[in-house]
Amino acid sequence: MSDEIKKGLLGIVVDETTISQVMPDINSLTYRGYAVQDLCEKCNFEEVAYLVLNGDLPKKNQLKKFKKQLEENRNITVNLREIVKHMPKKSHPMDVARTVVSVLGLEDKETDNNSPQANMRKTIRIFAKTPTAIAAFFRARKGKKIITPKKKLSFSENFFHMCFGKVPSKEIVKAFDVSLILYAEHSFNVSTFTARTITSSLSDIHGAITGAIASLKGPLHGGANEEVMHMMNKIKSPINAYKWINNALDKKEVVMGFGHRVYKKGDSRVPTMEKYFKKVAEINKDKKFKKIYDIVKKVMIDKKNIHPNVDYPTGPTYHLMGFDTDFFTPIFVISRITGWAAHIMEQHAANKLIRPLSKYSGPEHRKVMLLNQR
Ligand code: COA
Repeated sequence: MSDEIKKGLLGIVVDETTISQVMPDINSLTYRGYAVQDLCEKCNFEEVAYLVLNGDLPKKNQLKKFKKQLEENRNITVNLREIVKHMPKKSHPMDVARTVVSVLGLEDKETDNNSPQANMRKTIRIFAKTPTAIAAFFRARKGKKIITPKKKLSFSENFFHMCFGKVPSKEIVKAFDVSLILYAEHSFNVSTFTARTITSSLSDIHGAITGAIASLKGPLHGGANEEVMHMMNKIKSPINAYKWINNALDKKEVVMGFGHRVYKKGDSRVPTMEKYFKKVAEINKDKKFKKIYDIVKKVMIDKKNIHPNVDYPTGPTYHLMGFDTDFFTPIFVISRITGWAAHIMEQHAANKLIRPLSKYSGPEHRKVMLLNQR
């Protein structure tokens, strides 16, 4: 057995998956064999969620049934609503999201049933209820009345309704839907691997998703979309952008929303999300963020040959849609629940306990001295 250390599991293939394929050489990403760009243009988020979870795009009647299941499971218990209402107002919404899924596990009658059927039923419940609880915190922390979910609205429309009390134009809803499609799944990223690792001890789906949310929060992973907005706010205006980014690079700072462990020539999701960001900017008559976006991107590519990742365009898009900056990563959560759940079910179906080795580099064997002899 080789004891060569691969820090960060760099380049290590740890298992097979049929859910998605990231192809950095050709800048491509497929979900269950379908190009993600194609899915964005031809499908809505519910169809893609169904695809990620079930392996195939739904037929009309399958989609109808899936949407009905989601609509019927959108309500949260009075208990969870009260918990969310009484969470410290300063809590990070990602910590709230993590706690919400944990509470959903306490409330679920099937928490310890890991059969494929129960896992799918639990997935529907987590997927339908988590946005409701996140939107409840969005309003409760501002002292606003919590809005109950509405049936007959799409997943995205309902999320806007629960956060803002109204549904924006079709174009804005489509841009949001596209961002959810692009966030749904991305092979063995750190949060998905966390979910699979938790599952590998035969633990349950609520626990695995709770752990995945904790992992996604980090700024090197999903937390980057929030950080992108903090950066743009620090830059303030396009006039400052060149100076700001050059200065950051001179100081060897990590620029959020750029770089990727797998994609080195560009993130396959960026062109589509960038297109929708620019549409949203146009609708909002925004020039500021669009210009800052272009300048920072150009300098990063020209000077460092480092390309933006999907969090770079989603950050300002969500800002222009009216979401609070610290809610950007929880939006990522409500989409990625589908990818995590699919991986958890895949792991359960062909499980092997995940247990890598480490090379010991601590002190050599030492003799224990009694307390009065040390
Ligand atoms: N800003 C500035 N420099 C960056 C960079 C960034 N965003 N991303 C990578 N680099 C540089 C590194 O400093 C390193 O330079 P060096 O060789 O001179 O030391 C080189 O590029 C390789 O980067 P490395 O950190 O080894 O790549 P990685 O595969 O381990 O890291 C990320 C990938 C995502 C962790 C990294 O690109 C990053 O921190 N990005 C910002 C956070 C982010 O947007 N995360 C979301 C990912 S979808």
